[in-house]
Amino acid sequence: MNLSLTLPEFLKWYQELSKLKIFWAKHFSRLLEVCERNSYLMLRVEWLVRGKPREGLLVALRDPSQLTSLLEEPLLSHYELIHLLVDEEVPLPLPPYCAVNAHSILYFWHLDQLHLLEPNRQVDVELHEDWNSSVEEQLRRVQKQSWGFYISPRAGDHLVLLAKLNGEVVGSAYFNVNNANLDYGVHVVRSHWRKRIGTRLLHEAAQQARIRGFSFFSVVRILRRVGGISSDKRALSFYKANNPSAKLKVLRVLLKP
Ligand SMILES: CC(C)(COP(=O)(O)OP(=O)(O)OC[C@H]1O[C@@H](n2cnc3c(N)ncnc32)[C@H](O)[C@@H]1OP(=O)(O)O)[C@@H](O)C(=O)NCCC(=O)NCCS
Repeated sequence: MNLSLTLPEFLKWYQELSKLKIFWAKHFSRLLEVCERNSYLMLRVEWLVRGKPREGLLVALRDPSQLTSLLEEPLLSHYELIHLLVDEEVPLPLPPYCAVNAHSILYFWHLDQLHLLEPNRQVDVELHEDWNSSVEEQLRRVQKQSWGFYISPRAGDHLVLLAKLNGEVVGSAYFNVNNANLDYGVHVVRSHWRKRIGTRLLHEAAQQARIRGFSFFSVVRILRRVGGISSDKRALSFYKANNPSAKLKVLRVLLKP
């Protein structure tokens, strides 16, 4: 697994990601321990789960052959929240006493090895550091017609990207200015899918990352179920077609009941 991020860069990126309150990056109160070995990097974190502090582990596994020795039963019975960060494409035979009950993907694009597809050059991208109710209304319309629900941008964290084709708003993304993550992913109105509008938004994200001094940008998706449903597969096909430099998955592992 090659993230090409230094440990301080990764920790800063991860701490900001925790604002998304996703299963492997909940709002965390304290980083308790960082343990770095040749075969893995392990973070022991205190998370707030429904207001109560709980300890969890995030293990970035560099050498999958070490998986079984790492995931020993005592570790699994001690920690309820264990998350494995691994290369998406490496097969991962889990020990028989382990189960997986949540699945996410994480892709990084490094700006010095960018191979995005050709974008739709008729699309203009408007940038909004501040937004009013009219911009919010446009974002709502896009997301209702992309994945069916609306998540509003966060003031101070998000640069809003609005894609317009012939004056019509057709896509959006939120570029997090603190960690260069595209929070909640790329969105395109369903009637305009497959016109390289999403790809155009990725080009803009790369441009914004460069201007703001980042060497990368990233995206995270929580799959609706382990292995993914059709909408997950569609989103993943889009991101992968745009050649991320690192393709990772995150699995929540636990002791089989
Ligand atoms: C994912 C999404 C943003 C893609 O936007 P888009 O503008 O249609 O994507 P593009 O036209 O730029 O696609 C670029 C390439 O990605 C791949 N791709 C895109 N959609 C695909 C699909 N449904 N199936 C397979 N491959 C796909 C193709 O290789 C495509 O190139 P091609 O059309 O020349 O074959 C759009 O489908 C969407 O809004 N989905 C719902 C919202 C969502 O889930 N977003 C992700 C949140 S994490």
